[in-house]
Amino acid sequence: MNIQISESIQNRFSPMIFNGEKIQKEIIQLLIESASLAASSRNEQPWRFIVTEKGSEGYEVLRSLLSDYNQVWSASAPVLILSLARIIDENGKENNYAMYDLGQAISSMAIQASSMGLQIHQMGGFDMEKAREVLSIHNVYLPGTMIAAGYPGDISSLEGHFRKRAEEPRSRYGVDEISGGIDLFLN
Ligand SMILES: Cc1cc2nc3c(=O)[nH]c(=O)nc-3n(C[C@H](O)[C@H](O)[C@H](O)COP(=O)(O)O)c2cc1C
Repeated sequence: MNIQISESIQNRFSPMIFNGEKIQKEIIQLLIESASLAASSRNEQPWRFIVTEKGSEGYEVLRSLLSDYNQVWSASAPVLILSLARIIDENGKENNYAMYDLGQAISSMAIQASSMGLQIHQMGGFDMEKAREVLSIHNVYLPGTMIAAGYPGDISSLEGHFRKRAEEPRSRYGVDEISGGIDLFLN
């Protein structure tokens, strides 16, 4: 059988450096649109995105929320996005799948990005409480990940830990380690 994983999925990775090229507005919009095409519980589409471009005040605000570690490697990202999940719907009802749906949306974005030669790198390492405070995020929303987006850069200009991380081969559990009959999980 000559069936393979789609190239966009195969080529997706989280870059540790970007090449400095800006992302055109239309492409940024396309990324958001690709996220919006994901499935969601009751089609609530709970995903929201605060999109900022390098050079803007908003970008610096998002950047200031990142952990020191993430601030270092993501400095070359032309776009920073804060993703949010709407966890309480318009009727005041909790949506327990909101974060799950947000993850699916970002996965679509990552694959779309990869298909266009771009990549995104998600980060959980940021100060969510501070984000809520500085951005006046209403409590119907829960911050998800911060996303650095751009065209991957030359890893030979990275040093130390960051270089090592960028060079590491992809590490994944095998199919038989994560799937199988009930005995796989009951033993
Ligand atoms: C929810 C989430 C949080 C993450 N947080 C961080 C982070 O704070 N800093 C970081 O450098 N990478 C972060 N990552 C990236 C992962 O480390 C990366 O996806 C994983 O090592 C697999 O590498 P790959 O995406 O290149 O396949 C995060 C990824 C996800 C999905």
